Amino acid sequence: MSHSNRIHNAHLRSKIMSAEEAATLIPSGVNVGMSGFTGAGYPKVVPAALAKRIMDANLHGKKFKIGVWTGASTAPELDGALAMVDGVEMRLPYQSDPTCRKRINAGEMEYIDIHLSHVAQFVWFGFLGKLDMAVVEVAGITEDGRLIPSSSVGNNKTWLDQAEKVILEVNTWQNPALEGMHDIYYGTQLPPFRQPIPLIKTCDRIGEPYLKVDPDKVIAVVETHQADRNSAFAAPDEGSRKIAGHILEFLEHEVKVGRLPRELLPLQSGVGNIANAVLADLNQGAFENLTAYTEVLQDGMLDMIKSGKLTCASATAFSLSPGALTELNADLERYKDSIILRPQEISNHPEIIRRLGVIAMNGIIEADIYGNINSTHVMGTRIMNGIGGSGDFARNAYLCIFMTPSQAKGGAISSIVPMASHVDHTEHDVQVLVTEQGLADLRGLSPKQRAKVIIENCAHPHFKPALMDYYKRALDHSPGKQTPHLLEEALSWHLRYLREGQM
Ligand code: COA
Repeated sequence: MSHSNRIHNAHLRSKIMSAEEAATLIPSGVNVGMSGFTGAGYPKVVPAALAKRIMDANLHGKKFKIGVWTGASTAPELDGALAMVDGVEMRLPYQSDPTCRKRINAGEMEYIDIHLSHVAQFVWFGFLGKLDMAVVEVAGITEDGRLIPSSSVGNNKTWLDQAEKVILEVNTWQNPALEGMHDIYYGTQLPPFRQPIPLIKTCDRIGEPYLKVDPDKVIAVVETHQADRNSAFAAPDEGSRKIAGHILEFLEHEVKVGRLPRELLPLQSGVGNIANAVLADLNQGAFENLTAYTEVLQDGMLDMIKSGKLTCASATAFSLSPGALTELNADLERYKDSIILRPQEISNHPEIIRRLGVIAMNGIIEADIYGNINSTHVMGTRIMNGIGGSGDFARNAYLCIFMTPSQAKGGAISSIVPMASHVDHTEHDVQVLVTEQGLADLRGLSPKQRAKVIIENCAHPHFKPALMDYYKRALDHSPGKQTPHLLEEALSWHLRYLREGQM
């Protein structure tokens, strides 16, 4: 077997084996912490070899399932492959894979949708049970056994620390210039011994560039050379551009009235086309010297770093289209001064988000007329992806902005509904709601005042009269006038859609 020049530690080099051999070391019934965050830095060959092993076991009439814990979503080679063979008993904390989603919604896979900042500490506290194994992709191993992190950090520090046994995938496809880009903070403690995290400015480095692992726990080292699976973004459509326009106008107004500095405050932006459209607009706009304290670094942010609009970005993972990734890799050394990848318990840390005063911008499935937000469940019962980091940011941001097209499924669904069919972010956490129709600034408004602004500014004209009619009748007939509802009718829009295919 030819050994790559990425494994400089002799002890770990002696543990090199094939993915198939490594997969035989993972028994049924274990919990496995895997690397991976939005299609970056996930193990690429061991999960596939494990899926094959599970399929063989199934063919012999044997059940074989594991618990899969990750940073966030991964890719078809991990989530897709394991879900395809029905090999996942429990999945957490976030997924976006179509096969995985299908299994969860069919009741064939258990899923715990957890705030991303909570995962590491829940494992340290013992809340999730024992972590038996870790399978973590790294970009290389130094002579003294330290691990060069890959294109995402996620929960890798915790998996390597807490798992009883560790399998490393050393991916030579990852750019060696990643070495030095990461900031792994090892100062976290358990209550009551916690200390303040000494991160004062967005791009402070408070840790070290390497992950640590006890070499005696490492049971296999597998070499790979495979690309991250990143998805392309569509060019922003008209609706996304309108949403971006409303947000830019709002931010400019906030600067004018002195509620935001000229360089704004650190930006957090979810993934997806709307988020990218907002970033593209910011890149064209008048704001300078921006920073980002965010979860994933997507195309729009890379463009802003290139243009000099964004001076630095702190995240836990890349989430780039194949084109942007090629561009980044061609010039990675240059970006090291302006990009830092951290563990997700730090990138999403509520206290840091609150203290830095982050401007959070995230996509949603639906909002109700009072501002409660559903980010995760279609028609109240079917999971889409998960809450991800949206709760970490929304609850603690300086400004919490949620955005959505006013309609879904070609106009069959209104994204503004009388009552949200599932609530991820409550009315108390939402300051601004934006659709292509307009922006609702909800700060300082009571529920009744919010309802009028949301319906007036955000609802699609097709649904606006029915929403206003609902609100007015609720106001007349609701027994309580704080948040008026007609309970027998509040979810009738969703029921109508399920029955008739139209809200
Ligand atoms: N009812 C039913 N389906 C809806 C819907 C609604 N009100 N709103 C959106 N959808 C569907 C869309 O039709 C689309 O379905 P498709 O994949 O079959 O085409 C899908 O949801 C995605 O919607 P889209 O409009 O493309 O938006 P998006 O890519 O911005 O995703 C979320 C929206 C809510 C799914 C996504 O933002 C998410 O998962 N958010 C939660 C996690 C998060 O906020 N992460 C960032 C924090 S750091």
